Amino acid sequence: MRSIASRMSVMSGEGALSVFARAKELEAQGRSIIHLELGEPDFHPGQSVIDSAARALAEGKDRYCNVIGVPALRQKIAAYLARTRSIQVLPDNIVIAPGCKIALFQSMMALLEPGDEVLYPNPGFPGYPSISLGLGAVPVPYTLSARNQLQPDPDEVASKITRRTRMLLTNSPGNPTGTVYTDAVQRALAELAVKHDLWVLSDEIYARIIYGGEYLSMLRYPGMAERTLIIDGFSKSFAMTGWRLGYTVAPPEVVPALSLMVVNTYTCVAEFTQYAAIEALRDPEGNTPRMVAEFARRRDQFARDLNRVPGFRCLPPDGAFYAWVEITGTGISAEELCRILLEDAGVAAIPGAAFGSSGKDFIRFSFASSMATLQEAVERIQKVSSAWQATAVR
Ligand SMILES: Cc1ncc(COP(=O)(O)O)c(C=O)c1O
Repeated sequence: MRSIASRMSVMSGEGALSVFARAKELEAQGRSIIHLELGEPDFHPGQSVIDSAARALAEGKDRYCNVIGVPALRQKIAAYLARTRSIQVLPDNIVIAPGCKIALFQSMMALLEPGDEVLYPNPGFPGYPSISLGLGAVPVPYTLSARNQLQPDPDEVASKITRRTRMLLTNSPGNPTGTVYTDAVQRALAELAVKHDLWVLSDEIYARIIYGGEYLSMLRYPGMAERTLIIDGFSKSFAMTGWRLGYTVAPPEVVPALSLMVVNTYTCVAEFTQYAAIEALRDPEGNTPRMVAEFARRRDQFARDLNRVPGFRCLPPDGAFYAWVEITGTGISAEELCRILLEDAGVAAIPGAAFGSSGKDFIRFSFASSMATLQEAVERIQKVSSAWQATAVR
């Protein structure tokens, strides 16, 4: 009998993409929609990156190429990580992937047995539990609660470790909360990983988008080198979402498994995009710092404006480009609120439960839109706020 494999029924989609689909439907009906649902920078890579891709194509760099990525790019990534994150990694321990999601998937597929438990942040990126389930592993959430400044609580993590725990997933700065884990929290998580001999999968895709301070990679802590895989890429820090470029930094014994996965799936990442990525890392135009400075301005203003909406509470995030707004003061559910925002105000945002049960009292806005657009979004929200003002707790 023909049927879809049962593993597909346990995987899930992404709330952002379903809100986006409904927003597109409304737009097709002629409605004006402000898109604050997707995690996509409203910037594009600089001209020199585009020129590099064009030059590489003109030079015939459009063939099958090195399975784990062109050596020149892997060397540049190693130098970039040393420069921006103070970590020493070898180019041969870097595997280029078409985006961070596939890098996450490969790493989890390489390291998890069915039944293994995976600790992951809740609220968090929906792929973490979905991929775990798809691989027959057991996702075990640890909570990022407002009571704990949206930081992981190492005691809670410790209490959830069992004989089956195989992997600890971290994401700093995190989607959807923008939390940058503190040094103390990361140190405590690293100690737990050493004590219980866990793999650590550190999703550092937003590492460059922080608002002050030095970025602390999980790889910097004692005992982490042999057990940590870093996931990073070009989608967010270099505004290259559609180029589909990511990478894994892995301990040497994991690289052959990742390489085998590449051979069995996409063979290699497009060569000309990898040459463009080298130029993005060079960043002669200073595009990344400029983009982050602009995100910082928006963060300050958007958080201030959102806090004026009846029933909304928003702490400016320390990293990434998301406003994570607590909405219990509105007296209505996050789902109902997002429905009103989209259908009545034409502002697309995501109910927090799309990122896990601990997000149920929140909604997420992306502030990767111009200052004027963000201002208009808040004006529109203010106008429809009478819908919940009657129930709002001020
Ligand atoms: C935390 C996190 N990890 C991974 C990804 C996937 O990134 P990519 O576009 O490189 O596949 C995202 C994208 O939103 C993300 O927020």
